[in-house]
Amino acid sequence: MLSGHLSPEEFLTRYWQKKPLLLHQALPAFVDPISPEELAGLACEEEAEARLVWQRENTWELKTGPFAENDFTSLPEQGWTLLVQAVDHWFPAVKKLLAEVAFIPRWRINDIMVSYATKNAGVGPHFDYYDVFIIQGQGSRRWKIGQHCDSGSELDSKHSGLKILKHFETNAEWELYPGDVLYIPPGVAHYGISRDDSLSYSIGFRAPSLSEILSHYTDELCLTLTEDQRFSDPDLIPVQNDGEISAAAIGKLSALLRPLLADEQALALWFGRYMSEPKVPQLLEAPEFELDGQSLQQALEQGMRLEKNPASRFAWQNVAQELYCFADGRSFSLPHASEPLKTLLMQLNAWNDTLELEDLSTEPDCLNLLAELYNQGSLIETETT
Ligand code: SIN
Ligand code: CO
Repeated sequence: MLSGHLSPEEFLTRYWQKKPLLLHQALPAFVDPISPEELAGLACEEEAEARLVWQRENTWELKTGPFAENDFTSLPEQGWTLLVQAVDHWFPAVKKLLAEVAFIPRWRINDIMVSYATKNAGVGPHFDYYDVFIIQGQGSRRWKIGQHCDSGSELDSKHSGLKILKHFETNAEWELYPGDVLYIPPGVAHYGISRDDSLSYSIGFRAPSLSEILSHYTDELCLTLTEDQRFSDPDLIPVQNDGEISAAAIGKLSALLRPLLADEQALALWFGRYMSEPKVPQLLEAPEFELDGQSLQQALEQGMRLEKNPASRFAWQNVAQELYCFADGRSFSLPHASEPLKTLLMQLNAWNDTLELEDLSTEPDCLNLLAELYNQGSLIETETT
C-alpha cells in the first residue's frame, strides 16, 4: 500500500508513531471485501463486538451489540455508524488486507475494524492509544486531523460511553475516496464524517501498557516461585531505630527482584504467549476427538484437510538459539527444528489461513505440532463444500 508513495523504511522513520499521513490511492481499484449487509449480519452474532453510534441534539449516543434486526430497521435514514471489531476473524477477504502491512510485526496488530457510516455520520472527535491505517472503501469520508492528546486530555462527559474530546484543533482536513488510506499515530485527535453511505477498514495496532505488562508477567512469574524464595537477612546487625525500614533493606529487596525482571529468556517466552492470546477466545473450540501425531497422519492420508482458525494468533521466536512457536497463548519449543518444521512454522505465521501440508504430512515433528495445534482449536478441519 505504500508503493508509489514511499518505502517502508521512509514510512517508519518519518511517520510511524509520529505524524499522520494520507496515502492517496494507496490501494487503486479497491473492491470492498464485505458488504454493509454482511457487516450488519456479523453485528448480530453473539461473539462479535459491535457498536452503533449516532448523534442526537449535539450528544453522541452509543449502543453495544449483539444487535437484532429491528435495531437497524428503527434507525433514522442517516447520521449513524455501525462499527464491528475483528471482522478479519470472520471474513478471510477482509483479513487479506493485513498483507498490506506485512512490513510491521504481526504481533503489533490488534484487528481490522469495519465501520459502515451513513451520510453525515461520525463517531465524534477522539483519539486512540494505537496506530491505525484507515482504508476507505465505498463512499467517501472527510477526516479532520487534530492535536496530540494523552490521558490528561479533557473529555466531554455528556457523551456516555464514548470518549469524545472537549477541544479539537483542526490541523488538516482530508477527503478520502475508495482506495485512499489514512495513517493516524497514537494520540493524534481525529474526526471522520461520512459524506455519503461509506465503508472503512481500520487496521488497528496494539501496544500493551506497562501496567498490563507488569501485572501479567508478574502473575506468571509468581507461579514459578516457591515459598522458600523470600526476603532473608542472615547478615542483620543491631539497629538504632527499630521503627525504621532501612535503605539497606530496600537495597536487598531490589536485588531480589532485579534478576527476576532481567531474565530475558523467561520474558521472551512469556511475551510470545501473552501476545498470541486470542482476541475472541470463544471462537476457539477444542475438537470433539483429540488426535496425536500418528492418528493425524492417518487422517491426513484419508483426505482430512487442515487450515488455521481465522481467530487464532500465531507468532514465532528464536530464544537462546531455540525456535519457539506460539499459538493462542501457548508456546511450543522446537529443539533442533528440521527444515520441514521451519517450513511449517512459516506457513503458520503467514497472513493467510490455508496450509500446504503435502510435503510435511510424513514428518513426525510436524505431525506432533499439528496435532497439538489441532487439539487446542488453533487449527481446524477445512470444511468440504
Ligand atoms: C470510524 O471508522 O468511523 C472510526 C474509526 C476511528 O476513528 O478510529
Ligand atoms: Co479513532
